[in-house]
Amino acid sequence: MIDRIHHVGIVVHSADAALKFFRDTLGLTVTEDRVVEEQGVRGVLLALGENEIELLEPTRDDTGVARFLQTRGETLHHICFNTDNVDGELARLKGLGVDLIDQEPRDGLAGRIAFIHPKAAHGVLIELATPPAGAHISHAKGFDHLAVTVADYEAAQKTWERLVGLKVTGEVRPEGRGMVIGQTRSGQCVIELLAATSPDSPMAQRIAEQGERAASMVAIEVADLDAEVAKYRAKGLTLPDPAVGVLPNSRTSTIGAEQAFGLAIQLIEFKR
Ligand code: CO
Repeated sequence: MIDRIHHVGIVVHSADAALKFFRDTLGLTVTEDRVVEEQGVRGVLLALGENEIELLEPTRDDTGVARFLQTRGETLHHICFNTDNVDGELARLKGLGVDLIDQEPRDGLAGRIAFIHPKAAHGVLIELATPPAGAHISHAKGFDHLAVTVADYEAAQKTWERLVGLKVTGEVRPEGRGMVIGQTRSGQCVIELLAATSPDSPMAQRIAEQGERAASMVAIEVADLDAEVAKYRAKGLTLPDPAVGVLPNSRTSTIGAEQAFGLAIQLIEFKR
């Protein structure tokens, strides 16, 4: 069963440089750091509550990850879901005729892993992982939400349910933005399906320009947004003043992707 997001993977030029931000500035703990020779990457996992952030640094030029870095730059590469049975999930997906990158699970940084082809998931590369016994585990909240942009909201809902069992259980239609946010929950993290409801909305334009993909962003809930913003400004980062968020009863500020190795870090405070 798929029960939560295991990690988001981002591709970086230098894991050491990225660690200065994710470990030293954000304060995340490294749970794994090794070179996976056959994949040509150095992978680093950093724990963030029940989730992790995976840094992928290509160690040679002839791999998909290296080509991705060359064409797209430092940005989010994939979303990985945790399952206790990657073999069973893969067999289920094969039975559904889903396009897979891996026909059989293999060893990866997060354990026994397999990738679903992004064309099966509206442009999102999905990894499934069954971690080894004794792997890092936390029950604390990690990401508040991730987001994926989708061109066909109805079709995307069916896809996410079929592939990883996620159902849209909430919906936000922010006033005047011409978009809908479909909310699905995996563990304690919401995955937002962002779709345009009006052809002249910024979201429609974004999808027309970039296609469907996972946003290179993680949102993290904080108790005191003003204090967090002050803390990161003191560490030399540039953050906008907290502003009312798109989600109800929220305020947000963001560490921009250009300061965070391609992965924007949205800090979100809820009035509960
Ligand atoms: Co991964």
